[in-house]
Amino acid sequence: MAEGSWYDADIERVIISEEQIRDKTEELAKQVSADHADTDGGLLLVCVLKGAVMFMADFARALGRHGSSSELEFMAVSSYGSGTASSGVVRILKDLDRDIAGRHVVIVEDIVDSGLTLSWLMKYLQSRSPASLEVVALLRKPDAIKVSVPVRYVGFDIPNEFVVGYGLDFSERYRELPYVGVLKPEVYARS
Ligand code: IMP
Repeated sequence: MAEGSWYDADIERVIISEEQIRDKTEELAKQVSADHADTDGGLLLVCVLKGAVMFMADFARALGRHGSSSELEFMAVSSYGSGTASSGVVRILKDLDRDIAGRHVVIVEDIVDSGLTLSWLMKYLQSRSPASLEVVALLRKPDAIKVSVPVRYVGFDIPNEFVVGYGLDFSERYRELPYVGVLKPEVYARS
């Protein structure tokens, strides 16, 4: 950890280090790039704000290094749920800016937890007739297996704990952490 980062005192432990994220992103990009070597028109990456923003930025750059061109699109959705649990009922806050019909689309996800949001999103994007639709997710929790969402590329399977960092927040904080970690219990107690 960098010396003097404001958040270090709030983190109980690091689950995925900055270096692990960097290596895995490179590995995933290499694989996605190789699998799409014959794909015409480049890939259209769809990032779901805000959690996937760090991964999207690093993944797109890694794809470029491995020879694949990509265009970046952003969506924002809000999932109605109780507290931290998602319900699968999704409202679109920001839709895509362009038509994806006939394009090779890759959804770039931060984390697949229940899989409900992703399952809804895949149906939504599929209805817009892309040439192909795949998912790359940096993290996946064990509950994800309850909903069958075909996530072709997964970075890390992690324990069923609430994590923050590298785009993931707790009450809009901790997104800028360069690693993924677990907060100390007292952080929740004081909020
Ligand atoms: P799902 O619909 O249950 O798969 O939840 C998906 C979304 O919930 C993710 O894209 C995250 O934004 C958020 N989420 C799920 N687990 C965590 C976590 O451990 N920390 C922070 N956000 C999470």
